Amino acid sequence: MLLGVNIDHVATLRQARKGIEPDPVMAATFAILGGADGITVHLREDRRHIQDRDLKMLKDFVPVELNLEMAATKEMIGIATTIKPDLVTLVPEKRQELTTEGGLDVKAQKRIISDAIMKIHNRGIPVSLFINPDIEDITLSHQIGANMVEIHTGTYVNAKGERQKEELIRVINAVRHAIEMGLVVNAGHGLNYWNVKNIASIEGIRGLYIGHSIVSRAVFVGMERAVREMKDLIKEANKPLSP
Ligand code: PXP
Repeated sequence: MLLGVNIDHVATLRQARKGIEPDPVMAATFAILGGADGITVHLREDRRHIQDRDLKMLKDFVPVELNLEMAATKEMIGIATTIKPDLVTLVPEKRQELTTEGGLDVKAQKRIISDAIMKIHNRGIPVSLFINPDIEDITLSHQIGANMVEIHTGTYVNAKGERQKEELIRVINAVRHAIEMGLVVNAGHGLNYWNVKNIASIEGIRGLYIGHSIVSRAVFVGMERAVREMKDLIKEANKPLSP
């Protein structure tokens, strides 16, 4: 199972002073040394953390998968089709949110999303959709031509007790359904050193995308070690879980 490291929050710290440090490109270097299989950045419409310059430099520099998270807007499609990352993950985006709050509403936005997929595919870039663990959203994602889905794990992460077990089963069923549909499946959001194992032990997931928790740990132990520790946890979680 692969680990894609989201380095947005290194840029958040830099933007606190609008200066030059810490540099997300440097963060990517150390994440890769720690074993990251991919680097993810979310270029937001308001440019609150990652800047256009970061994306351009990462594209030239990153030797592993560069995953661009973005909203399905005209501006972002233009940037993606110019820079050509290895993967585009379409996410919903609201200006006031602290982080991505949920998966795409594939049903309500079917036309906008399928149009974006077509334009990005025309440049030879695969597209993943960030969706809730919802059977209908998975079926629709397949219908409109997505190559992959990233199952939103945030509801599982935030639930407690019995509710958390139910949410884990929802994620497991979603992964199974997506695989049956022929989609490549990833998962992410809110995963940390304590909750990652349950998700990492689900059979069939290609990769996990993790950001905040790794960057938070990196403040104390360094990026390379923070990534290596997360990779080790993912590797240990090799027993498949069944509901
Ligand atoms: N996947 C997607 C689609 C996201 O939007 C984010 C947050 O930017 C993540 C994964 C990583 O979430 P976290 O920072 O909570 O690990």
